[in-house]
Amino acid sequence: APFRLADYAPPAFDITHVDLDFRLDRTETRVLARLSIRPRGTATVLELVGDELVLAGLSLDGAPLAADAFTATPSLLTVRAVPDRPFLLEIETVIDPSANTKLMGLYRSTGAYCTQCEAEGFRRITYFLDRPDVLSVYTTRIEALKSEAPLLLANGNPGAHGDIPGSGRHFAVWHDPFPKPSYLFALVAGDLGAVKDSFTTMSGRKVDLAIYCEHGKEARCLYAMDALKRSMRWDETAFGREYDLDVFNIVAVSDFNMGAMENKGLNIFNDKYVLADPNTATDVDYANVEGVIAHEYFHNWTGNRITCRDWFQLCLKEGLTVFRDQEFSSDMRSRAVKRIADVRTLQARQFPEDGGPLAHPVRPEIYHEISNFYTPTVYEKGAEVVRMLQTILGEDGFRRGMDLYFNRHDGDAATIEDFLACFAEATGEDLTQFSLWYSQAGTPQVAARGEFDARHRRYRLTLAQSIPATPGQPVKRPMQIPVRFGLIGPNGEDLDFASVSGARVDGDVIHLTAASQTVTFEGVSTRPVPSLLRGFSAPVRLAIDASAEDLLFQVRADRDPFNRWQAAQTLAMRSLVAGASATAEGRNGAAEPALIDALGAVLDDEKLEPAFRAQVLQIPSEADIAREIGENVDPDAVAASRKRLRLAIVSSLGPRLLAVHTALGAEQSYSPDAGNAGVRALRNAVLDLMVASGSRAAVGAAVWQFETADNMTDRLAALAALCHAALPERLSALHTFHEAYRSDPLVLDKWLTLEASVPAPETLDRVKALLAHPSFAASNPNRVRALVGGFASLNQAQFNRADGAGYDFVADFVLDLDRRNPQTAARLLVAFRSWRSMEPVRRAAAEAALRRIASAPKLSPDTLDIVTRTLA
Ligand code: ARG
Ligand code: ZN
Repeated sequence: APFRLADYAPPAFDITHVDLDFRLDRTETRVLARLSIRPRGTATVLELVGDELVLAGLSLDGAPLAADAFTATPSLLTVRAVPDRPFLLEIETVIDPSANTKLMGLYRSTGAYCTQCEAEGFRRITYFLDRPDVLSVYTTRIEALKSEAPLLLANGNPGAHGDIPGSGRHFAVWHDPFPKPSYLFALVAGDLGAVKDSFTTMSGRKVDLAIYCEHGKEARCLYAMDALKRSMRWDETAFGREYDLDVFNIVAVSDFNMGAMENKGLNIFNDKYVLADPNTATDVDYANVEGVIAHEYFHNWTGNRITCRDWFQLCLKEGLTVFRDQEFSSDMRSRAVKRIADVRTLQARQFPEDGGPLAHPVRPEIYHEISNFYTPTVYEKGAEVVRMLQTILGEDGFRRGMDLYFNRHDGDAATIEDFLACFAEATGEDLTQFSLWYSQAGTPQVAARGEFDARHRRYRLTLAQSIPATPGQPVKRPMQIPVRFGLIGPNGEDLDFASVSGARVDGDVIHLTAASQTVTFEGVSTRPVPSLLRGFSAPVRLAIDASAEDLLFQVRADRDPFNRWQAAQTLAMRSLVAGASATAEGRNGAAEPALIDALGAVLDDEKLEPAFRAQVLQIPSEADIAREIGENVDPDAVAASRKRLRLAIVSSLGPRLLAVHTALGAEQSYSPDAGNAGVRALRNAVLDLMVASGSRAAVGAAVWQFETADNMTDRLAALAALCHAALPERLSALHTFHEAYRSDPLVLDKWLTLEASVPAPETLDRVKALLAHPSFAASNPNRVRALVGGFASLNQAQFNRADGAGYDFVADFVLDLDRRNPQTAARLLVAFRSWRSMEPVRRAAAEAALRRIASAPKLSPDTLDIVTRTLA
């Protein structure tokens, strides 16, 4: 049966203290849990959930329970007739970490024991009230063979530790004074290397910091450590939030279903988001490490000190924490470029979700399997909603609301209503309509039309919103959409106006609140070019019938860098969509001359940051184009259109591209900072375009760069250019690359992804062959995502082959993986989310593959949920 937000009821019992004693063993770990339980009401039956558990002992207040006093199944422990006063329940369970291929609960990775408990993994360790509104103080004792696990870590501060004489075993005790839900529990034990440092908080407390990793990789943790210290300082200055324990530990493990986990005082990371050095990580990897380290650290306040009442409130911590990590990265790097990158991610990942069968509100109201709701909607759209709140309230009002939230709800398991109430109270703003952003799914469309009346010096802007139907939500109400704007005059400056009516306008923000509103600006001297949704002030699709000339003008003159980028993308998208339908009809589309002018202007403008220019040169992807077309998509026509446009760009701008590439070539030694990375980004964007032409000079330049680069960013970019153009030169380069990094799995993930993204019919067979390659391991989520995920999400034309072989391959893989790691299997299946927008032949093939999955016996709840909703 599904879980519903409307059914929320508080727990019948509190668990005030949890005392855990782990006797670690690779296949037979014993867990003794002593739970201090207090009835909240009159309930006399206690039900604790488990998952694949074996009960080895049970006593209440020290007395073993009689067989008729309880029942235990692997998933439920029921204790009948518990006392109506506080009592101590002692539970012993036996678990097998080596057999745990789901990577939830206690498992083994990187030769160590580690845990992942969010969302419902703690119940795979012991029977518990495994829900986020049960907050307890944890004491954890870990005992293990000293030779196997010299390092013993858990949440909180370190306590007693020592040897157990004559046994070869030792122990350590950890105590976490902050009450927390079970999903934040963590334990790590193993033989790991470390880098150590310290941080002094704003009130002068010294915190010991450590990052643990596989021996030999310590030097690759130094950037993460630096990012951690910067994150700690930033949260103090930006939000007044200080760290609260004596230690902060991070552990990097190789087998991890997600990115990382914010366990109190003991963050556990997918090693891909910790390890970085110039030879193995790209500039993008560095930025991701910085962002994820910050994200997990920021959870200490938004997630841990204030947690969620129930899993429907997941965006309370995730959307808010993504917003906070985005702000951190914006302050560390270029704000404009960070915004463009974030919006690209939102549009590439969240928009298709919101527009397809898996659409759900930022705060869902129903779920079957919560693991499937760690989505771009909850995370990225959730962050956009917080950003809109800041736009509406202003930076000061937003900060007052955050301060109130931290003060009022510290120690609580809170809701979205609690969160919004703080902002409403701190600022006096009525957020009733705004709160629809949490409950209505679907990407609103905002249509804009402007009209200039020269005689009356009046500009009329009509904005109309419509929100598409989504599963379970056929009809929508108008939302409050903050539209940041400017009216650009002929010299590029924003025009003044004398007065405005028809909508609430605060400074440069129009509040669109009705289905349609006409905003009238009086005293406008000349026809403006409207610049709407500056900085992407709301997660909507803007439809405006701007002329190519106006868009070109915006690219050159808009003082909002985001809209300069957006205008170039819009020009490119128009040309790409027209090109795709031309191809489908057997005609040849022509590139928009205004687009070439716009790209050329940006390319040559040395006042612009290189990273920004690189973003502009990166035209929409095949998936972006398919999404824009929306129905009856022919991916081959899309690919042909994109290829043709890139060739047209090269043939018009060729010498200027080459000039930029040459000018940027003489470079200092590698540093991962944003400025330095931006130069590489521009040079490599140019290289990628030039190589697309297949010219001998360009291919030669790529091969040379591949062979001589002194850093992974340039080396991989050159290889990627050869692969993306499916040039024969890629073959020996791919081979060389594999040979050079054969002992470095994270680098080989890049190789797997490139192999899978070659736009050629033979790629599917290559991907199938790679499943048996020694460098691939289906048990490791990173390998799976790199190869199979890379194929399904980056290789549009081959995944969506007309013969259905791409769909069948992914379906077979998902079915096989589902038996061992359902979470990762279900996530791969999301690649099918836009199947209904394909042309009929592909649509039928995708549907057949999905139906085959749906009818397979013994599907996990995770995969069953995704396939059912995808087909619905
Ligand atoms: N809370 C983690 C984060 O920082 C995500 C962990 C989710 N893990 C899972 N298996 N569902 O975003
Ligand atoms: Zn998070």
